[in-house]
Amino acid sequence: MRLLETIVDLRTYRSELSGQVGVVLTMGYLHAGHLSLVQAARHENDHVLATIFVNPTQFDPKEDLSAYPRDLPRDLAMLQEAGVDAVFTPTPVMMYPAGYQTTISVETVSEGKEGAVRPGHFRGVATIVAKLFHLTQPHRSYFGQKDAQQVAVIRRMVQDLIFPLEVRVGPIVRESDGLAMSSRNVYLRPDERQAARVLHRALQATAMAYAAGERHPDALRSTAEHVIGAEPLAALDYVSVADACTLAEQTHPTDAPLLLSLAAKIGKPRLLDNMLLPLELNTLEGATATLGAV
Ligand code: PAJ
Repeated sequence: MRLLETIVDLRTYRSELSGQVGVVLTMGYLHAGHLSLVQAARHENDHVLATIFVNPTQFDPKEDLSAYPRDLPRDLAMLQEAGVDAVFTPTPVMMYPAGYQTTISVETVSEGKEGAVRPGHFRGVATIVAKLFHLTQPHRSYFGQKDAQQVAVIRRMVQDLIFPLEVRVGPIVRESDGLAMSSRNVYLRPDERQAARVLHRALQATAMAYAAGERHPDALRSTAEHVIGAEPLAALDYVSVADACTLAEQTHPTDAPLLLSLAAKIGKPRLLDNMLLPLELNTLEGATATLGAV
């Protein structure tokens, strides 16, 4: 596996590649969720490039950027083992030249849900993803359904800025008890780790109601809210029932594919989880065909 530490290294490496290139963009501190995207990329491309960059512009001033977990040697070993061909590990000054003034704002889909709780977050995400797309020039890029609104924002940007690449969306990889894998799970104390299972339980209960025929968004939302409300360590931020393609919040019953998503604080960390409804959509093909599809 090649380690590319500068933009010149990356450009030279990329210019010598022929065949199809898949990229997996990450902030490091990798887990099986990230590696599932690498597997999908390996399947579908001749070369797989990964990036590790803790992007400062997507953190709120209130969030602690310096506390974000990092372990580069471990990440590199995991990527090598997973069969990645090259890893790009830029520094903040490389990605944000001194005095930079250019950012990318994707409008409506960045509003609401995570966008409402974390102002400026999706501007930071869209900006860094655009730069990394320019540098890596992939045929296909791989993102996790875990960050569903991020997928929708990136797909809108790809369409609007006419990037010549495909966005593929991998299903959520979970711990054996259902908790969605996340680099932030390391912040959970043992009692909070137990309590965190409530997120997946709330999604499952709502998916059961949906499978039994419930289509009213208010009823679906309140099913999830009830389950979360019964867990004393959980402070619910939102439950959203949105159109899976546009992410528009739903107010009337519909048979169109839905994204059920929620965020809750369990102790310090804020955790996210979601499911596509109907449940058959929670696969690489299903999520790619529906989530944020424009
Ligand atoms: P990061 O949180 O490191 O996640 C990298 C990719 O892994 C994202 O596409 C994310 O959705 C996916 N992922 C995270 N947890 C997952 C899980 N449990 N199952 C499947 N996929 C999962 O998302 C970012 O970094 C950044 O915003 C980035 C896109 C790199 C831009 O800075």
